[in-house]
Amino acid sequence: MKLDLRDRRVLFVGGKGGTGKTVTAASLALTTADSGRKCLLVSTDPAHSLSDVFDIHIGDRETILTPLLSAIEIDPGATAKRHIAAVAGSMRKFTSPAMYDEVERHLKLVQTSPGAMEAALLERISELLIEGTDNYDLIIFDTAPTGHTLHLLSLPEMMSTWTDALLANRERSGKLHAVLDGFGDLPENNPAAGAGGSVKTPGYRSDRDEQLRAILLQRRSKFRQARQVLTNRETTAFILVLNPEKLAILESKNALVSLQQYDIHVLAIVINRVLPATADGDFLARRRVREQAYLAEIEHAFKGCRHHYLPLLAGDICGMDDLRKIGQLLINTD
Ligand SMILES: Nc1ncnc2c1ncn2[C@@H]1O[C@H](COP(=O)(O)OP(=O)(O)OP(=O)(O)O)[C@@H](O)[C@H]1O
Ligand SMILES: [Mg+2]
Repeated sequence: MKLDLRDRRVLFVGGKGGTGKTVTAASLALTTADSGRKCLLVSTDPAHSLSDVFDIHIGDRETILTPLLSAIEIDPGATAKRHIAAVAGSMRKFTSPAMYDEVERHLKLVQTSPGAMEAALLERISELLIEGTDNYDLIIFDTAPTGHTLHLLSLPEMMSTWTDALLANRERSGKLHAVLDGFGDLPENNPAAGAGGSVKTPGYRSDRDEQLRAILLQRRSKFRQARQVLTNRETTAFILVLNPEKLAILESKNALVSLQQYDIHVLAIVINRVLPATADGDFLARRRVREQAYLAEIEHAFKGCRHHYLPLLAGDICGMDDLRKIGQLLINTD
């Protein structure tokens, strides 16, 4: 039985490095689009290869590949830059003009830190998860090798918990300020009052606090929504790609456990690069013996998932014709 993606809205294709994630994601996307569903293919892997496999330049913005297929290669650097610019914009509202240069210098430094890239990537994925399904029938994410992707997928939960804590902190400090306000206006708590602290502007802090609170609530809601889409079994699923080899099997077994812990539905595994029956010779016969043992191990270890096999091809997979052939092997489009 082939894969049936007709009810799916969001798919993540993941697995160990080099197992065939990009080829699988691209074939599934192209074949789905050929069958009449509007599809968006998104690469979250900084080492992009969608452009290579389609042999068409794909950038950080939606690029049309066929009438019903568009693709994006998320550029974490550019995304982080936009993200920080937006943060800088909101920070200006809360900072005195004298501090602008200092803040800007600080944000420039933050922009290149790995955490910022990850936060920006997560924000972009969350937006695509929330808004993308309005514009597309199916969104397929071609992900980075397992460890990085699993960490990223665990972030929405972590980020909303973290935002909860920040909000709770603000509530507490808000109460404290309310008590302090009872003792009179404190200049250090009220920059608008100036050094002398003689001008009383009671609205200043609460106004600023309200805006900060609104931003935090918005972020929390975004991550919560993203997590809801991610864990919705009806719409969203993960496809693990592996090869009949020791390390790929081991990594996929661990990934399966982690995905189940995050409540992410694993729809199927794709076992790629299986030696075709027609391949002959003594060397291949010996390899086939080893492969049989690994295939049996895969059968056993991934009992709950559907299995789909792809043969090892003589050449690389490049261009839409090759991808369509792979797609036809994987998907049921009747
Ligand atoms: N069944 C196959 N037969 C022959 N070559 C294949 C097969 N599947 C993938 N390849 C080739 O193997 C290479 C790696 O494939 P691909 O880029 O899809 O892997 P990946 O898992 O996305 O790698 P990365 O972890 O680097 O993103 C590519 O050159 C691709 O053309
Ligand atoms: Mg890849």
